[in-house]
Amino acid sequence: MMRGELVGLRALEPSDAEALWRWNHDPEVMRWMDDGHPQSLARTLASLQERPRNSYGDVLLGVEASEDGRLIGLVRLRDAEPETGCAELDVYLGEKEYWGRGFATDALRRVCRYGFEDMRLHKISLTVVVENHAARRVYDKVGFVEEGRLRSVFRRDGRWYDQYTMGLLEGELR
Ligand SMILES: CC(C)(COP(=O)(O)OP(=O)(O)OC[C@H]1O[C@@H](n2cnc3c(N)ncnc32)[C@H](O)[C@@H]1OP(=O)(O)O)[C@@H](O)C(=O)NCCC(=O)NCCS
Repeated sequence: MMRGELVGLRALEPSDAEALWRWNHDPEVMRWMDDGHPQSLARTLASLQERPRNSYGDVLLGVEASEDGRLIGLVRLRDAEPETGCAELDVYLGEKEYWGRGFATDALRRVCRYGFEDMRLHKISLTVVVENHAARRVYDKVGFVEEGRLRSVFRRDGRWYDQYTMGLLEGELR
């Protein structure tokens, strides 16, 4: 377990499948995220059971609220390459009653610290839909810098949206 100030980060268990399945079918949670095709609970469970172990190129962690030990979301550092020291970051909190209390900010700070200090990454990047103001605020708080705007790359409800690309270099984490 990696401890932040408000959250702990831990590997996922098959018993987390129901929560993941519920979050992935919640339109409010998935509003600005690529939700793919609907999957059954059985398929979600199987994908957790069959998932290869966490490794340098793919670290998927559950976010637990320290106050009650409840699993509230996920963070993922993926596509890390030792040659470049670059990786991509994803985050979401599926338990909506925990939104707005600093949990995502704390989870991001902790996983980025892990990336820079333990994995010796040089840079962590992400994309965020321009209209996703809460996520953008979290990334700004942690120190991510806007690097560009990708036009018309995210489709939702029959409309195309732009995304920002953002990056955080080692030493920029706040
Ligand atoms: C986006 C998300 C990760 C934020 O998590 P969170 O725990 O609520 O974030 P925090 O509480 O740490 O910080 C949220 C910040 O955004 C601000 N905020 C919230 N809604 C906002 C809005 N509509 N416009 C501008 N800022 C907003 C909050 O005030 C807070 O900033 P502050 O600390 O300066 O007051 C969470 O809401 C979520 O998982 N949403 C669904 C999935 C998603 O969009 N993931 C990101 C994909 S790129």
